[in-house]
Amino acid sequence: MAKVIQDPAKHPEAIVADFSTPNPLVTFSKEDIAFTYGSKWKQRYFTKRGDDYYVFPAQWDVRAKTWRRYFVENGTDWWAVHYPPDQMQRPTGPLCDGCHSVNYDIKTKTVTEWNVGCEKCHGPGSLHVEFPVASTIVNPARLDAVRADDVCLQCHSQGQPRTKPLDGVYYDWPVGFKPGDRLSDVWALEEHHLGKETFTHWPDGTAHKNRMQGNDYVQSQMSLKGVRCYACHDVHGTPFEADLRVSGDGVCLQCHGPQVQPGPRGTIEQHTQHKATSTGSRCVACHMPPIARTVGNVNVRSHTFKFISPVMTKRLGVPNPCTTCHTDRMPDWAIDALKRWPTTSPWRVAG
Ligand code: HEC
Ligand code: HEC
Ligand code: HEC
Ligand code: HEC
Ligand code: HEC
Ligand code: HEC
Ligand code: HEC
Repeated sequence: MAKVIQDPAKHPEAIVADFSTPNPLVTFSKEDIAFTYGSKWKQRYFTKRGDDYYVFPAQWDVRAKTWRRYFVENGTDWWAVHYPPDQMQRPTGPLCDGCHSVNYDIKTKTVTEWNVGCEKCHGPGSLHVEFPVASTIVNPARLDAVRADDVCLQCHSQGQPRTKPLDGVYYDWPVGFKPGDRLSDVWALEEHHLGKETFTHWPDGTAHKNRMQGNDYVQSQMSLKGVRCYACHDVHGTPFEADLRVSGDGVCLQCHGPQVQPGPRGTIEQHTQHKATSTGSRCVACHMPPIARTVGNVNVRSHTFKFISPVMTKRLGVPNPCTTCHTDRMPDWAIDALKRWPTTSPWRVAG
């Protein structure tokens, strides 16, 4: 996992935004920045006031190379109503730092390390340094599947603490959670109202927002069968996009294929009805459409892995993978095509 937080005094190159052209959204200068946050999709800027940090009200959209306003409105994130509508009264300790550091201490407002360090996933390491044996450290691979993925969900989910406020403060992260615990004891995933499009969910319950890989994944058949996040990702780093263990379809073909139980049956071409080399044949094309909004028009991939039929687009307005890619086509066109697919049941995908 890349470093989200950088100190521009040590790493001036970390600032990727354009500060040279005046922009009415940008009311601060490079010198005011204590930390940059993010580099892949968006970059936000922290400033220090007293013993807290605050986020400036403009963010850089990395893909579109443009400034966008940054302000969390009421009716979006659950906590907005509990804070004044002023960025300089919304400290990052309760709202951000628990997920972007190791051991954020809510009393002293200090961390042992910024970014996602070893102890955030492996638990306290001092005993392990003294006695370097397996029993003195948490290895997620030896936890049950729920506890193992909870290590990831503590950060990769949209939810709310079950106890709030805590000493009068509204935290947006699971204070007190340690690897090996059951996250659901202290954290509730954001509610989804079937049939309704909300800030966090599409009407069928698929994630509408970024940082919801966990909300999506717990709904999937793979999660049910005990496949874990790290079956596909190696968070210690790989040369591939999104720290995948194997690049492209290979990550799926570790377990999938016509000769093995989870399928799919037939050749890739029979299953996808696109040429094997087509972008329309990539597993992620139909099972992980980019429909979770992160900034501007930039979306990350959904993690329920189910195929969202174009019928759901017509009935409920959930985006389907076919016309998300074939942007010049209407859902009816995709439904007609799917009716003729030989290895897929029209009862399931074509209404
Ligand atoms: C984002 C979570 C996360 C972070 C951060 C993380 N790990 Fe891990 N680590 C895991 C998971 C999950 C496993 C089990 C699955 C695997 O081996 O990938 C694991 C396994 C391991 C293993 C056992 C590997 C094996 O072959 O049995 C070692 C050793 C390890 N991590 C060391 C580290 C060190 C050292 C750091 C910090 C530099 C670190 N990890 C940071 C999640 C994490
Ligand atoms: C402490 C919070 C935290 C924990 C715990 C955590 N992550 Fe992350 N993860 C992040 C952040 C923050 C980023 C964004 C990194 C960036 O923008 O460069 C990220 C990015 C990622 C990415 C994308 C990397 C890329 O290059 O695009 C993957 C994949 C990922 N995490 C998987 C996992 C898995 C699997 C686990 C559990 C084993 C896990 N994470 C645990 C905070 C966390
Ligand atoms: C519950 C944990 C959690 C909280 C709270 C949280 N983040 Fe994150 N953040 C993540 C994870 C996980 C990712 C990476 C995955 C993703 O974006 O889907 C991320 C990604 C980001 C990115 C994008 C990184 C990139 O490279 O594009 C930025 C910027 C960011 N967070 C800033 C913030 C700010 C500012 C706050 C507080 C207002 C905050 N985060 C609160 C977990 C959290
Ligand atoms: C079955 C395989 C698989 C599982 C399980 C899985 N992911 Fe992913 N994940 C992927 C693939 C494939 C991508 C897309 C990579 C790309 O865009 O090329 C991805 C992308 C991501 C990203 C980067 C955001 C983006 O869309 O680029 C994050 C963060 C992430 N996964 C986190 C998680 C977390 C957390 C879990 C568990 C809750 C998880 N993943 C489970 C396969 C998986
Ligand atoms: C570690 C093994 C493993 C990996 C890697 C894996 N899968 Fe799976 N997959 C499974 C298992 C097990 C099932 C459940 C089969 C069952 O229900 O009997 C499954 C089921 C599915 C299903 C059907 C159920 C549903 O949720 O709709 C789809 C679609 C799917 N996987 C897609 C993918 C994609 C896409 C990838 C790569 C990004 C992938 N899988 C990677 C093991 C894996
Ligand atoms: C062009 C779209 C498309 C692509 C690309 C695609 N699938 Fe599918 N997949 C579907 C549809 C449609 C279904 C049927 C969904 C249903 O019936 O609910 C399906 C079902 C599945 C299932 C469950 C049923 C079965 O046939 O076993 C698995 C597993 C699966 N796909 C895996 C994969 C893997 C692995 C890849 C990449 C090699 C892939 N898919 C690529 C559209 C696609
Ligand atoms: C990620 C992009 C992508 C996705 C998702 C995708 N396709 Fe395609 N599709 C393509 C491309 C590219 C072509 C052009 C020919 C080729 O490369 O196979 C194509 C060609 C086609 C064609 C034949 C040419 C035409 O335009 O009439 C049909 C029909 C089709 N796709 C239907 C579908 C349906 C139905 C789905 C959803 C189940 C789907 N596609 C999902 C990229 C995609």
